[in-house]
Amino acid sequence: MPHDDDIVTNTTTNPHIYDLIERRLQDPARRKLLRGGVGLASLSFVGTPMLVGCGGSDDAIAAPAPVSAPSPAPAPSPASSSQPPPPPAGPARPTSLSFSPVSKSLADAVVVPSGYVATVLYRLGDPIAAGVPAYTNTGTDSPGTYDRRAGDHHDAIEYYGLGANGQYSPTANDRGLLVMNHEAITPAFLHPTGQTTVAGARTVPDEVLREFYLHGVSVIEVSKASNGDWSYRQDSTFNRRVHTLTDMIISGPAGGTPYMVTRYSIDGARTRGTVNNCAHGYTPWNTYLACEENWAGYFRRIAATDNANRSAKELTSLARYGVAGNGRELWATVTPDTADNLYGRWNAEVKGASAADDYRNAPNTFGWNVEIDPFNPSSTPKKRTAMGRFAHEGAWVAKPVAGKPIVFYMGCDSRNEYIYKYVSTAAWDPADSTRGLAAGDKYLDAGKLYAARFNADGTGQWLELTYGAGNVTAANPAYAFADEADVVINARLAADAQGATKMDRPEWGAVDPLTGEVYMTLTNNNATLRTLAATDAANPRHYNDARTNGTAQRGNPNGHIIRWKESSPEALNFTWDIFLFGARSTADAANINLSGLTADNDFSSPDGLWFSRATNVCWIQTDDGAYTDVTNCMLLAALPGQVGDGGVKTINNTDANGATKQVQTFVGTPLPGTKLRRFLVGPKDCEITGITETPDGKTLFVNIQHPGEDTPAASIGDPTVFTSHWPEGGTARPRSATIAITRNDGGVIGV
Ligand code: FEO
Ligand code: CA
Ligand code: CA
Repeated sequence: MPHDDDIVTNTTTNPHIYDLIERRLQDPARRKLLRGGVGLASLSFVGTPMLVGCGGSDDAIAAPAPVSAPSPAPAPSPASSSQPPPPPAGPARPTSLSFSPVSKSLADAVVVPSGYVATVLYRLGDPIAAGVPAYTNTGTDSPGTYDRRAGDHHDAIEYYGLGANGQYSPTANDRGLLVMNHEAITPAFLHPTGQTTVAGARTVPDEVLREFYLHGVSVIEVSKASNGDWSYRQDSTFNRRVHTLTDMIISGPAGGTPYMVTRYSIDGARTRGTVNNCAHGYTPWNTYLACEENWAGYFRRIAATDNANRSAKELTSLARYGVAGNGRELWATVTPDTADNLYGRWNAEVKGASAADDYRNAPNTFGWNVEIDPFNPSSTPKKRTAMGRFAHEGAWVAKPVAGKPIVFYMGCDSRNEYIYKYVSTAAWDPADSTRGLAAGDKYLDAGKLYAARFNADGTGQWLELTYGAGNVTAANPAYAFADEADVVINARLAADAQGATKMDRPEWGAVDPLTGEVYMTLTNNNATLRTLAATDAANPRHYNDARTNGTAQRGNPNGHIIRWKESSPEALNFTWDIFLFGARSTADAANINLSGLTADNDFSSPDGLWFSRATNVCWIQTDDGAYTDVTNCMLLAALPGQVGDGGVKTINNTDANGATKQVQTFVGTPLPGTKLRRFLVGPKDCEITGITETPDGKTLFVNIQHPGEDTPAASIGDPTVFTSHWPEGGTARPRSATIAITRNDGGVIGV
C-alpha cells in the first residue's frame, strides 16, 4: 500500500521506553563503543539488466514472459493425505555475497545485477480461469470477470512446491503454487476515467464490484519450462481468488460471540471477505496466513451521528482502531444497496434495531490473520482470532520443535504501534504437517498473546494479553475488559494496559533459520507523531533527512531494523539490538548513518524482510517516500551476524527547533559491502514487497506493487503524465506484478 497509509490512533501515554538515559547498561560486553562509517571501495559492474517499462531495444532488456502457459494435460485434483518428506536441511550462511551491487535508480524499470534476468510472471488483471479474456488494461474489462483475474497491489508471496500427486512437495523446484496478497488498489487505473463519484458517492456499481474483487489473495499454479521460463497456468484447478466477497469462518475465542454479530451472520460465526492483506505467514502445516493490515479505513462511520448510538466502551474501541470517516473507497455509498448488503456492509454505523440488523460490528470481523489452504481450493478460509486483532502486517513462525508450542511473531503496522507474539497451547506434533486447516484449528485457535516491551538496558519482556493478566481486567481504567473475546478483539487496548513499547511503525518480521533470532523492520516515523522527547533506546533517532532540494524530513524518515534473541521461542524475556539503520550514505555517520551504509547499499524505509531457506541470506525490501528523490524502492541482500555483535552507541539527536537529546542504544556491527548490497531497484513510484523462492534457491519471486501510484487521479485521460508505464511500456497504464528472477548460469540467487 502507499507508504504513508497507516491509521495512527495510539494516543496512550505508553512510553517508547521508560527512563532511558538513567538506565544502567548492565552488560559489560555492550559497552564497547561502536565504530561507524565502515566503507568499502565500490565494485564495478557493467551491463546491468533492466526490465523496463518503455519498450526499449537494448538487448540487455528482458522481455516479459508469456502470461499463460496453456497445457493440454489436465491439472491434478487437489488432495492431501500422506506425509511429505521433510524439507532438506539448510546450508551454512555464505561468508560473502557474489553479485555486483546495483546502483540506485530513478528509471521506470526493474534493475537486477549483471548475470541475472527478471521476467514478468503475473500482472494486475491477468486471467486465472479458462475462458476469461486477456486483460485490456483500459479500465473497460467486464467487472464480472474480476473474481478470476489477478488482483491489484501484489504484496506478500509464498511458493509451495507442488508434487506430481497434487500434494505439497518440499523439493518441487519446477512446479508450485504461488499464493500472494493483493493489498489495495490504485483506483485511477482501474476504470475508464478513474472512480466515478458524484457529491461524495460512488455512482457506478460495476466500478465498485471491480474493486471488491481486486482485493484479497491469489493462488496460482506456476511452472518452469525446459528453457527456464516461468509461467502460470491459466486453467489450473488450483487457481483461486479469495476476495472481499468470500465467505469466511471466524474461529478462536471471538468466533460466535455477540461482538461478531452482523446481519450477514446473526450468530457471529462468519463474515464476508478479507481486505488490505499486507504481509503473510507460512505455517508448518503448509497453509497461508493472509494478514489484514490497515482495514479500518475501508469502513464508513460518520462519528457525528453514530457516536450517540454507541456505548462508552464501543467508542473507546472504535477510536483506538480508527474506525471513522467516509470510507477510503466510498464503497458504502452506492445506492440502492443489494438485498445482501453488498455495499451497506461497509457502513459500520448503527442503523437497525439490533446488531443482527446492521453492520455495526463489521469492523470487529476484520483485523485478523486469515488462514487459507492453497491445496484445497474449495476450503473456507478461517479468521484466527486467538492471534489478536490489530493492523496485522504479517505473522512469522519460529522453527517448530516437536513437543514445544508453535510461536508466531507479529507487527502492528501503524506509527507508534506494538510488536506481538502468539504462543500456541498445543505442543507441536510433526504428524500434523499434512493436516491443513485442521492443524490450524489445533494450533491457532487456542494460545496466549503477548506484546513486547523494549527496555533501555537492552533487555525486553513479553507482556501477557490474557483476560485477567496484569491490567487486562474489568478494573482497567481506560477500557474495562469483559472476557477473552473482548481482549483479542481489542488487543491494542490490552497492550496499552500492559505497558508495551510504541515502535516506529512495525512492518515485516523474519526468523533467522540459523540462530532463531527474530528481526523486524521499523519502517519510519515522523517528527509530529514521534517527537524528539519520545525517542528511546529501541527507537533512538530523531534527525533531518534533507532531500536534495533542501526540503526537511524530520523524525526517523529512514527507519531501522531491530532484532532480538530469546532462550527459546516461548520465553518471556529477550535481549535486543538494532541490526541496521536506514540512511543516505552521505548522512552524518555519527548520528544518522550509524550502520556505515555506502553508495552500494544505502536504503530508506525497510518494509519486507525474509530469510532464504536455501541460502540463509536475509533479504530487505523498501517502501519509501523519503529517499525517492535519489532512488526508487529496492531489494537488498544481507548476511547478518547476531544480537550483541556490535556495541553501545550514544546518539545526539536534534529537532527542528534546535532542541537536543542524547539516546543510548545498542547497534549491530556494521556490515561491509561484501555482506550488504543492493540487488534490485524497481520502477517509478512502486514499493518492492513480497519475496519467495523455489526450494533450490534458483528462482526468486518478487512483487512490484503500485508502480505509478503518484500519478494524479485527475490525469488518467493523459498517459503522458503517468509517472510509470511498467511493465508494458509505451503509453500503457502501470500494473502491479510478480516477477521471477533467475541467474543466467542457472545458479543459486545471491551467492
Ligand atoms: Fe502494507 Fe505494512 O505495509
Ligand atoms: Ca509499508
Ligand atoms: Ca508492507
